[in-house]
Amino acid sequence: MRKSARVISSERWPAIRFRVNGEAAAVRVPPMKRLLDVLREDLNLKGTKEGCGEGECGSCSVRMNGELVNSCLVPVLQSEGADIQTVEGLARKGELHPLQKAFLEHGGAQCGICTPGMLMAATQLLAQDSHPGISQIREALAGNLCRCTGFMRIFDAVAATAALEAKPGTGSAVEQASHAR
Ligand code: FES
Ligand code: FES
Repeated sequence: MRKSARVISSERWPAIRFRVNGEAAAVRVPPMKRLLDVLREDLNLKGTKEGCGEGECGSCSVRMNGELVNSCLVPVLQSEGADIQTVEGLARKGELHPLQKAFLEHGGAQCGICTPGMLMAATQLLAQDSHPGISQIREALAGNLCRCTGFMRIFDAVAATAALEAKPGTGSAVEQASHAR
């Protein structure tokens, strides 16, 4: 007969506090629990995806304190006091982020497993460089794997978003990226 699972009271763990998409969050979970799992299981933010679970594919990318991290490699303990942005933090007031619109328009999202990570990597790029060239885009997304699109549609989507920035009065993508931490 199988032993029943040991129930671990969450109260036994100290609270780990951080901010996600601008809102305060606190979790009582094992400190070595992966940030990826805390986001998906404890905070119900299931936009962040798991691909390899080993830091190789970028599907789980989120931004932490303005840096791109693989959330499958981050123990939640390291999130204490951090500012985290997930893909759920891109849209504003029900309006898709310009990058999300561009991915839709250019066919940059197919099965969708890589898409949240790609979007976060592209957001990171645009926060640092509002007018990246194709080589900067390739380099910024080099840690994110896609099995479906052949990458060019994704690069096109990011380039199109960056091109929007060059037009007066359309600076929303970089503006939103730089507000996101
Ligand atoms: S799931 Fe984290 S890098 Fe692949
Ligand atoms: S859209 Fe399927 S892995 Fe990228």
